[in-house]
Amino acid sequence: MTADQEIVVIQVSRHFVILTIFENQFLVYKKLGNKLQEMKNQILLLLPVMLLLSCVSSKTVNDKVEPITLDSKVDMIEPVTSDSRVDALLKKMTLEQKIGQMNQYTGFFDITGPAPEDGDTKVKYDQIKNGLVGSMLNVHGAEQVRALQKLAVENSPHGIPMIFANDVVHGYKTLSPIPLAEAASWDLEAIENSARIAAIEASAVGINWTFAPMVDISRDARWGRVMEGGGEDPFLGSKIAAARVKGFQGDDLSAINTIAACTKHFAAYGFAESGKDYNTTDIGTSTLYNVVLPPFKATVDADVATFMNSFNELNGIPATGDKYLQRTILKGEWGFKGMMVSDWGSIGEMIPHGFAKDGKQAAVIAANAGCDMDMESRLYIQHLKKAVEEGNVDMKHIDDAVRRILQLKENVGLFDDPYKYCDAQREKEMVYNEVLMDGVLHMAKKSIVLLKNESKLLPLESSDKKIALIGELAADKNGPLGNWRVSSDDNTAVSVKEAIEARTGNEITYEHGVKIFYGEQHFVQELGVNNDDPAGISNAVALAKKSDVVIMVLGEHGLQSGEGRSRADLGLPGLQQEMLEAVYEVNKNIILVLMNGRPLAIPWAAENVPTILEAWQLGTRSGDAIASVLYGEYNPSGKLPMTFPRDVGQVPIYYNHKSTGRPGPAPLVFWSHYNDMTNEPLFVFGHGESYTTFDYSNFSITGNQVSVKVTNSGDYDGEEVVQLYIRDKFASVVRPIKELKGFEKIFLAKGDSKTVNFTLTDELLGFYDNQGKYVVEDGEFDIMVGGSSATELSAEFVLNNQKKIP
Ligand code: BGC
Repeated sequence: MTADQEIVVIQVSRHFVILTIFENQFLVYKKLGNKLQEMKNQILLLLPVMLLLSCVSSKTVNDKVEPITLDSKVDMIEPVTSDSRVDALLKKMTLEQKIGQMNQYTGFFDITGPAPEDGDTKVKYDQIKNGLVGSMLNVHGAEQVRALQKLAVENSPHGIPMIFANDVVHGYKTLSPIPLAEAASWDLEAIENSARIAAIEASAVGINWTFAPMVDISRDARWGRVMEGGGEDPFLGSKIAAARVKGFQGDDLSAINTIAACTKHFAAYGFAESGKDYNTTDIGTSTLYNVVLPPFKATVDADVATFMNSFNELNGIPATGDKYLQRTILKGEWGFKGMMVSDWGSIGEMIPHGFAKDGKQAAVIAANAGCDMDMESRLYIQHLKKAVEEGNVDMKHIDDAVRRILQLKENVGLFDDPYKYCDAQREKEMVYNEVLMDGVLHMAKKSIVLLKNESKLLPLESSDKKIALIGELAADKNGPLGNWRVSSDDNTAVSVKEAIEARTGNEITYEHGVKIFYGEQHFVQELGVNNDDPAGISNAVALAKKSDVVIMVLGEHGLQSGEGRSRADLGLPGLQQEMLEAVYEVNKNIILVLMNGRPLAIPWAAENVPTILEAWQLGTRSGDAIASVLYGEYNPSGKLPMTFPRDVGQVPIYYNHKSTGRPGPAPLVFWSHYNDMTNEPLFVFGHGESYTTFDYSNFSITGNQVSVKVTNSGDYDGEEVVQLYIRDKFASVVRPIKELKGFEKIFLAKGDSKTVNFTLTDELLGFYDNQGKYVVEDGEFDIMVGGSSATELSAEFVLNNQKKIP
């Protein structure tokens, strides 16, 4: 498509234009500059986002799962094929130059300033000039990237461009919701579009490669990095993982508005014991094959360009040095042709793990295991040459790694033009571009989950009510940006206070309430929490007393979840619970808006507070999205991608657990339960309410077709996520009591109905056995359908002869 052929731009005022795209889609686009041609070029770059914003999404998801088999041999893996330009280059390179390509450094100084004269910075600088650095991360801005690229291209022996990476996890500067929040949308099209937005902006600042998506399944809300993934379920997680890859990479990796994705962290990082980051993981083969690996496999099927291994050891082997994971499964069984980067310093971390005795051995283990690039441990560049010369690393492993790295650069288009992503003008136009800002708002609204709305306090009406808005987080413009806002600017989120005050009709009074956080807000620093000083609570109570309705915005700051931010307590941090209960004493009309990066254990609130809205950390347009849901401009449609526990003692807690031999309940004590608490979670996986209601009826199974009629029986138009679960009742390996196997997000105007159909296929009914082989066994299944994992409709399905199932 070209701008002239397919887009007609009609200017209707100084600021607005109407675009006609294809036959009957009209979009209003705010003009960015004065030149029409420039604008058309921008429109082409932004087109994917604009098209998505012009339509509502809905999709059935029942894709194929390929079997894993264990019979291939590591050494039989065919070398990856590469373009002739890559092959030619490889032939000319010395061993040292090849190892240089396997070396990645973080950005280290202002490259547009004077050259460094000594120290570590000079070492890196000289290595770039000598072609001994293949990639850099954390270099910010088109000008910086261009200058560093120039250093490599114009000085190094073969002029090989570097590839520039960054953690563009949920946006570069214009931030979408944190990934866990996006997962709550169950809207694959919206999630893909959000990744596309991130790619458009990041590619405009010189970045070619993002360290995302993070696809680690986790069942433990104590682990801070649950904010970064798709939740607890492998089926939903796989769909989301593939959608994110598609969003980042588009159809053409060499296009200037797409970037290479990186699936991380391979593997089982989300199963850190006791939810403590970087901790040991010890899981059985059934969990590995059926829960941990499927989202990784889904991204290979979606053609992800790269993978990252992980810090943790899995069953005694650090993932970075795990040949079985990286060579046998990923590059062997799954046929992954892209490249594997280590996690930050993870090659060196095999020494404290007690797996390698020194840096040299660590480098040897990692290279032999299939880790192609060393992120910042510097052990490849220091030791690999000698290791190859001494015969400890086979040259074919080096060639394979370098071929994968060079091929990535080729695919991204860097050999055609090393500076193609370094256009300062494009950077100016794309960063915080209004189309992208609208896109992240769209995603943010869809990510909100209405946990309860008992006395129908929501949606708010504009009716001269006295509304108290309480909480430090209500006015916070940093916390909603989340943990991975490394490239974004401080205080760029729209706060709830700003967005609510912009709406007329009610009298809004704000009270900060108790202080929650103190100290510097920084990615690398622990955030202080006020556990002692109750100042502010009395003011909040006084305001609540004279108000009709109280909106309390409570929860976690963005820097309380994420890497290195595990929590042993899952309640509201600091004195927020005290403040909530004190306010409740004087005014029970509380709308609790939660901001958090993980499931919280808030049993008192769930029991007493009439209305609770889960708003996570929603990114740059956070307040706008929340206000639009509070006022009913958008009817919430999110569903929880992770179970909310009642108490941290229940964790790990997840819906798709197995049955024990004593599932209970039983009158005596001898069944699987707690003496002091129910087994039930606070909010189940898949839960989420709406301002309207949905009735499920006409549930039937005919052949392998499942069908159910869904009716919007309430007073508002709305979206519902219709969920399909199965239980394989008897199998050669014990199966979970419930497994999500399909979902469809549908829009229904009030009074309307729709019949939703699912097809039961081998791919949905089978599982991986303990040898990693995908098997489909005849037998009885419960098939369940509903608006959450607490399904009410169930029927039996008998699989008699799997060959009859298409
Ligand atoms: C994280 C990765 C991240 C890398 C680079 C590590 O600490 O575990 O997820 O991509 O840093 O920033």
